[in-house]
Amino acid sequence: MNADDKKAVLRMIPYGIYVLTADADGTLAASTVNWVTQSAFAPPLVVVGIKADSGTYKTVKAAQAFALNMLGKDQKALAFTFFRPADVSDGKLSGQSFRKGTTGAPVLIDVLGAVECRLTSIVEQGDHHIVVGEVVEAHLIKPPSGRPDAAILEMKDLGDNVFYGG
Ligand SMILES: Cc1cc2nc3c(=O)[nH]c(=O)nc-3n(C[C@H](O)[C@H](O)[C@H](O)COP(=O)(O)O)c2cc1C
Repeated sequence: MNADDKKAVLRMIPYGIYVLTADADGTLAASTVNWVTQSAFAPPLVVVGIKADSGTYKTVKAAQAFALNMLGKDQKALAFTFFRPADVSDGKLSGQSFRKGTTGAPVLIDVLGAVECRLTSIVEQGDHHIVVGEVVEAHLIKPPSGRPDAAILEMKDLGDNVFYGG
């Protein structure tokens, strides 16, 4: 396989941008992720590829729950904030207000919406593991005026040189 071709072709996959959050007994995690998709209607399942050696992965596993916070088109700066490990001070997550969701996961206040998931299984393959979550709560914070998927920040909105994949 040609490595450059592999990279170019895999980078054709379009991605939304999300902030994944979790709370394991007071240890909070928040990371910007893109390896996300819904994978079933009944029950509603989503899967997320999470870096297996990250603090976020450890926290999600310990919490057995997580939230996916949906960023809007104008929230590029927020995406960049959560590429770095989250810091908690003054009751905020890297400067962002949040509230505790029904699963205990932090739900950001200034986002389009969020789903809360209970972890149902993990596929341990490769340097990122696939975390499967059942959606148990949905927060529609800013109802979209058009297609919901037109409102979300996408990888291609982050600039010509930002990729995660390939
Ligand atoms: C554009 C971009 C997309 C990313 N997507 C993911 C992802 O889907 N899964 C993941 O585990 N990390 C992803 N990351 C890395 C995390 O944002 C970052 O490493 C993480 O917040 C650090 O987490 P930690 O402090 O818990 O170790 C991405 C980074 C960038 C720059």
